[in-house]
Amino acid sequence: MNDSKRRQGWSVSERRAAHRRAAITRRAAEDRRTAAAKIAEEERRKGRERRVKERRVVPERRDDATWQLVSIDDTSFGSPDAELALHAAATDARTRAQAHYSNFMVGAALETAGGEVIGGCNIENATYGLTLCAERVALVKALSDGHSIFTRLAVVADTEAPTPPCGPCRQLLWEYCGDIDIILGNLNGPTGRFRLSALLPMPFDRRLLG
Ligand code: THU
Repeated sequence: MNDSKRRQGWSVSERRAAHRRAAITRRAAEDRRTAAAKIAEEERRKGRERRVKERRVVPERRDDATWQLVSIDDTSFGSPDAELALHAAATDARTRAQAHYSNFMVGAALETAGGEVIGGCNIENATYGLTLCAERVALVKALSDGHSIFTRLAVVADTEAPTPPCGPCRQLLWEYCGDIDIILGNLNGPTGRFRLSALLPMPFDRRLLG
């Protein structure tokens, strides 16, 4: 017999008592859910704090990985929250792209060792050839503001597949940033992570000039 059939024979006071019992059970379940949610939120908060603490500190320019292939697993990204913040800064910079000729808007955000974030967007012009890529705009802004040690760069374009820096940008990033982490993404979030040495495996640089 199901509950409602059984209750048909009950007196009014028995039904009220059953309602009260059911309400108490519901409240207890709700309290347990609230307590579990509080514990989960506390765990998430602790995790966030730990990740921020563990954030990689790069005291010196990193360029030891030259001339060897580096896989995605070798990337050394700092906290996921900081990665998302960098991606968000690149997404924001992209909104200022001057891409009237290609309509291909790109944003970049370069993170300094001190944790500052410098954004850049692509800037095109009527001669086409003088186009400045978002990555290089972020780089020259950062260099001209006196920054010299960098940790990672985020690049954002409205493409499903990750849009990587072009060849000339890789060369300049290597020259001025060393083996930084490159976070590629689209408008939905990061989609790929590479060390620059994986994107430019055999770089020509000043060490070869003797
Ligand atoms: N572009 C960038 O800004 N960064 C890249 O990584 C790829 C290409 C720009 C240059 C040009 O304004 C447009 O995208 C189309 O090539």
